[in-house]
Amino acid sequence: MKSSCLMNRLVLFISAFVVLCNGTPVCRGVLDPYPNKPKLTFRDDGTFKITLLSDLHFGENPWDDWGPEQDANSTKLMRTVLPDENPDFAVINGDLITGENTFRGNSTSLIDEIVGPLNELKITFASSHGNHDNQVNITHLEEILREQAVAPLSYTRTAPPGVGGEHGPGNYWVPVKSPLCVRSPQGQDHAKDLPGGVDQNGDAIPDWVDESVAKWIKIETQRMNAAWGPSEKRGALAFVHIPPHVVQDLRGGLDSAKEPGLNADELGAGSSQASGSDSVFGNDQPFWDALTENVPNLHAVFSGHDHGNEWCSRDNSKDVIFCFSKHTGYGGYDHGWGHGVRNIVFSSPSPTTAPETWIRMEAGDVHARITLDENYGR
Ligand SMILES: *[C@@H]1O[C@H](CO)[C@@H](O)[C@H](O)[C@H]1NC(C)=O
Ligand SMILES: *[C@@H]1O[C@H](CO)[C@@H](O)[C@H](O)[C@H]1NC(C)=O
Ligand SMILES: *[C@@H]1O[C@H](CO)[C@@H](O)[C@H](O)[C@H]1NC(C)=O
Repeated sequence: MKSSCLMNRLVLFISAFVVLCNGTPVCRGVLDPYPNKPKLTFRDDGTFKITLLSDLHFGENPWDDWGPEQDANSTKLMRTVLPDENPDFAVINGDLITGENTFRGNSTSLIDEIVGPLNELKITFASSHGNHDNQVNITHLEEILREQAVAPLSYTRTAPPGVGGEHGPGNYWVPVKSPLCVRSPQGQDHAKDLPGGVDQNGDAIPDWVDESVAKWIKIETQRMNAAWGPSEKRGALAFVHIPPHVVQDLRGGLDSAKEPGLNADELGAGSSQASGSDSVFGNDQPFWDALTENVPNLHAVFSGHDHGNEWCSRDNSKDVIFCFSKHTGYGGYDHGWGHGVRNIVFSSPSPTTAPETWIRMEAGDVHARITLDENYGR
């Protein structure tokens, strides 16, 4: 139900910086958070494709038939869509599990189900976490540790202790390099873990990205600059489960001809970060400022959480494009909006080349194809 979804806000910063770089000597080794994983690279033809899944909501009502049936449907969707799309990387943008319905003893076993298709298909991926992933019987950290244990191709990480606050540890970046690493890095893709939801006593957790993440973004950007050279030589994408607060203001000015995609979810209390009764407008501003001011060539920021929205729009105050994901899971509130994924495709490793993006539905039909370039949303 939507109302219950909106009550428990998770501020999930899925910040996964995918750093797209084209410089072998500089970008290897010095700053590699994944020494034991396959290096993520653009294809030989210069392309790189990300498939974005969101709001899978596994584990609803295990005591009824419909909950497990939803999960089977969601798994089937992944087994249909992922081989078809054959992405170079997948991102799961939060609310993997509806934690309110899970049990202390076995809640993370749902992670095994979720990563099953990705493991089978050998797809590299990373996750952000949402308000439903912090509940009485589950936490972001428990999901992350389980994913790391059971999914060899998971790039999900945690930031140093304290970053993200007590409940949002999943802040990290993932580098992607060009096939011929000849000069300096070129891109980054940032995923952040916003907390939200409730803690193990059932008390509300803030739903905005913690202020500590702002400082961390600056520090991480400086480390990348020291290792790889100026940040202008990188491009970036960012993923965070709950939309930044500024998205509340974007909806009113949408032009559906130019900014296509489903626009069915009103953005009320709890729909964006720091819009619930327990929050203050502006709580997520340090995060939004740090992200948009320290990360050049930030092609777009992607969120899930509001299942009825698919549109992309530009925040003129920061000159950055925000996009909703597509509700992927059969779990979670739904008013006949269908299920699918968002694809994001780069045609070149150049840090300034804008990616194309579109929604692909389960049956294969596509819509809302746009290019996230300097003209979009103006
Ligand atoms: C599962 O998917 C089928 C269509 O393939 C649909 O008819 C059914 O309602 C779905 N079940 C649930 C519980 O969502
Ligand atoms: C949490 O897990 C315990 C033990 O499995 C169970 O009794 C309880 O109903 C679960 N859910 C909540 C919200 O406490
Ligand atoms: C977890 O345990 C409960 C009962 O203790 C059971 O109903 C449920 O199906 C189990 N869930 C999973 C994902 O194994």
